[in-house]
Amino acid sequence: MKILITGGAGFIGGNFVHYILNKYPDYKILCLDKLTYAGNLETLKPVMDNPNFKFIKGDISDREFIYELFSEEKPDMVVNFAAESHVDRSIEDPGIFLKTNVIGTGVLMDACRKFGIKRYHQVSTDEVYGDLPLERPDLFFTEETPIHASSPYSASKASADLLVQAYYRTYKLPVTISRCSNNYGPYHFPEKLIPLIITRALADEELPVYGTGENVRDWLYVEDHCSAIDLILHKGREGEVYNIGGHNERTNLQVVKTILKELGKPESLIRFVADRPGHDRRYAIDPTKIHNELGWLPATTFDEGIKKTIKWYLDNREWWQHILSGEYKDYFNKMYGNRLAES
Ligand code: NAD
Ligand code: TYD
Repeated sequence: MKILITGGAGFIGGNFVHYILNKYPDYKILCLDKLTYAGNLETLKPVMDNPNFKFIKGDISDREFIYELFSEEKPDMVVNFAAESHVDRSIEDPGIFLKTNVIGTGVLMDACRKFGIKRYHQVSTDEVYGDLPLERPDLFFTEETPIHASSPYSASKASADLLVQAYYRTYKLPVTISRCSNNYGPYHFPEKLIPLIITRALADEELPVYGTGENVRDWLYVEDHCSAIDLILHKGREGEVYNIGGHNERTNLQVVKTILKELGKPESLIRFVADRPGHDRRYAIDPTKIHNELGWLPATTFDEGIKKTIKWYLDNREWWQHILSGEYKDYFNKMYGNRLAES
């Protein structure tokens, strides 16, 4: 089995590469990544010498390059993690989200049609469903919930999902789609909430919390996302969407306070800053379908997962300190400079 994993130098793709190489030592893994600001070869260092692993630098939206790659490598399956993934960046500059997330998905699927594929899997997000009201904790996203995206990021992911479903219906391309809730764990880029809070709290820096911190996210330990995709690839039904989530809802403020408590840092570091425009209120997944059909259940509770994640950031300072000292510094100052000054 030869699997092309795109976006494998990023957070979830990187974890998936490690997961698959561990679980299926005879599989061949090709990892394709453009190495944008979010791609990091240090994430793949432990597997670079594995004879079953090959890294290729390239862009999923570059048709000529992708066709050449497929013609040479003829993968059996594609798992597409490659994306621009940060909502705040999509609000600043939506164009690249359309190019990578929509056009890139189309190019990959065209290559699958041209050269043949056993399965194309699209890694999508619960954000395509929009948000749920805070005062209705009884509501959850199911696979039947209408698509209703809020940010340029989620709109680009929703567009890609529609394209994947159209390729199934029109060309009978053997596709599956997974829509997962917020992930956390090792190798998470420190622009996202959990690693941002851990790394800044460790340096006793101010912790920006948008609005009142009441927004709710449904957190899943990244390894549980990997095990779900693994099941969908091997046992999922073609043309189907599977929601992935473990009922771990927390307000942002609860998450920040939990991290501070674990680290023994004071809550006085918290700063309430100007809210994100269009900020989704609550995400919450109903995972009944993947549980009933494929027997998937998450293995890690939020309490265990956050401890493991904090330990990973304490044990792997070099990984994130390289990031913090690079281009990311300019991004942070541009995005947060005024907001923190005004808080
Ligand atoms: P990430 O930003 O950490 O990683 C994305 C990777 O894609 C990076 O390595 C980047 O270099 C690469 N990439 C970007 N543009 C590319 C291009 N044009 N060609 C090839 N590679 C390119 O993102 P992540 O958090 O690991 O998310 C991975 C996928 O999972 C995304 O599709 C995202 O929408 C989805 N997802 C993420 C979450 C989450 O909580 N992070 C939850 C649900 C779904
Ligand atoms: P994020 O990690 O960007 O994921 P997403 O927007 O895809 O859910 O943000 C998680 C939540 O944390 C979201 O409600 C926005 C909030 N947030 C902050 O309050 N402060 C921050 O500095 C960041 C990055 C996010």
